This record gives sequence, C-alpha cells and structure tokens, in this order.
Amino acid sequence: MSSRQGPVLGVFDSGFGGLTVLRALLPRIGGAHYLYLGDTARLPYGAKSQATIARYAVESARFLGDRGAEYLVIACNTATALALDEIKAAVKIPVVGVIEPVVRAAQERHPASEVLVLATAATVQSHSYARLSESVGLRATEKACPLLVPLVEEGWIDHPVTQDVLKIYLTEALGKGEPKAVLLGCTHYPLIEAQITAMLRKLGSTAEVIDSAEATAAEVERVVSAREAVRQGEATFECFATDSVEKFRRLGSLFLGRQIEDVQHLDLGG
Ligand code: DGL
Repeated sequence: MSSRQGPVLGVFDSGFGGLTVLRALLPRIGGAHYLYLGDTARLPYGAKSQATIARYAVESARFLGDRGAEYLVIACNTATALALDEIKAAVKIPVVGVIEPVVRAAQERHPASEVLVLATAATVQSHSYARLSESVGLRATEKACPLLVPLVEEGWIDHPVTQDVLKIYLTEALGKGEPKAVLLGCTHYPLIEAQITAMLRKLGSTAEVIDSAEATAAEVERVVSAREAVRQGEATFECFATDSVEKFRRLGSLFLGRQIEDVQHLDLGG
C-alpha cells in the first residue's frame, strides 16, 4: 500500500472477539492500517486441542504476514495461551499476545491480590493465566466458561439465557474465593462485560472487571512506537472472514462499535 502513512498491523482472532481489541487500537496508532482476520469457519478454538489451535493460528498468522502485516496482534486468548511460541516461530515480525498485558494491568491495579480468570476451556487447561499471575505475585483462580463464546457469537448479549449461564458460572467461581479483580480471559467477553459486572454485584462481589482490549492496545502502541515515529492521521482497517461475510458485517459491527462494510471471504482450508 504505497500511500499509507503508518504501520500495517495484522490482528487475529478465531471470530469476532478480537474486534474488541481492534476497537481499542484504532484511536491509538495514527495512520495505521489494520488487517483483521476472524477465523469464523473454525471457531470455537476454545474447545479444540493444542495441536489444532496451533495449526489454525499459524495459518492465520502466515496469511496476515503474507498480506503485508509488519506487526501481529494475537487478539485471542486461546491462541495466545496455546500457540504463541509456534506463531512467533512462523512469522518474522513482532508478535503481541493478549495475556501478559491483562495480567500486568491486574497486578498494577491490585498488587499481590486474588484474581478470577474467566476463559475458554483450552485457555484454562493451559494454565497460562495461573502461571503468569503467580510470576507477578497474584493468586489466580481460573474458570472455564465454554458456553459464553457461542452465546456472544449468537448476539445473545442481553438474553435471559446468558444471564442464567453467567449466574451458574460466577456462583461456582465465587464459591472458591473473594477475588479483587475478574479478568476477562477471552476477547469475546467484553461484549457482555456489563452483564458480568451486574451479575457479580448481584452475587455480592465487588471485584473490578478488567478486559484485555485496552491493556493489549497500550502494549501494541508501546511496541510500535519503540520501532517507529508516531504519525498523525486516522487509522484504517479491512476485514477477512473464513465464514459468512454477511454475518461478519452484522455481528462484527456490534463488536467494533462502528459499521463494517469491507469484509473479504477467505478460505484457509479445513
Ligand atoms: N476469542 C477467543 C479467546 O480470546 C476464543 C473464542 C473461541 O473459543 O474460539 O480466547
């Protein structure tokens, strides 16, 4: 892209969730151009094996690199937890995942405290959050919430079923302690952040909800500005989806908080 002013950044998630990270990135890096890939045909990653998640994530990362990305943002906790090393080995550009920034944000705001991590089954099984939390002096309880991604992908944000599911998950998780912070360890969950906070209060918890979008965007800005001068100008983006382009436009606009027009279909194989 010869007329561009700023860097090209690839942003990747299994679906729409990573758009919450793109939303936080857009106002931060002047003149940047974003290539967003949602691997919607192969979602959910959170219920799959490490080998499958790594294969899918590496294919997506390579696509974005080949398309001109100079930086890569893994806007998916599951891919970060299970495939960060494989992705870094597959592309020769700086790679930022979502887990470390959110754990550091929690540590800064609630040092040496107890935190609750809500995430997909695969992320929880990897214990990436627990390990990293422990290394910065936090005690983490991890709770797998496998039903939340399908509910969010369905657009059931204010739906009674989502309320019931949240009540069950949070009641179970809060039975194990009194966290100071609840970390949204899946980029789909910011869409139901208000509902999660409301349910926490209903269940008597005062925990602060922290999502990975802002913390990750701040880290990406730091990485980019360490390598090149910050420029002026609006950021631009284009999207790629491996499943329905129409669904991506409709639901993606909800996640991004603005209308998405330009979505290209992409076939990454099975
Ligand atoms: N948004 C992804 C994450 O942050 C998970 C969605 C999925 O299970 O594919 O973990």
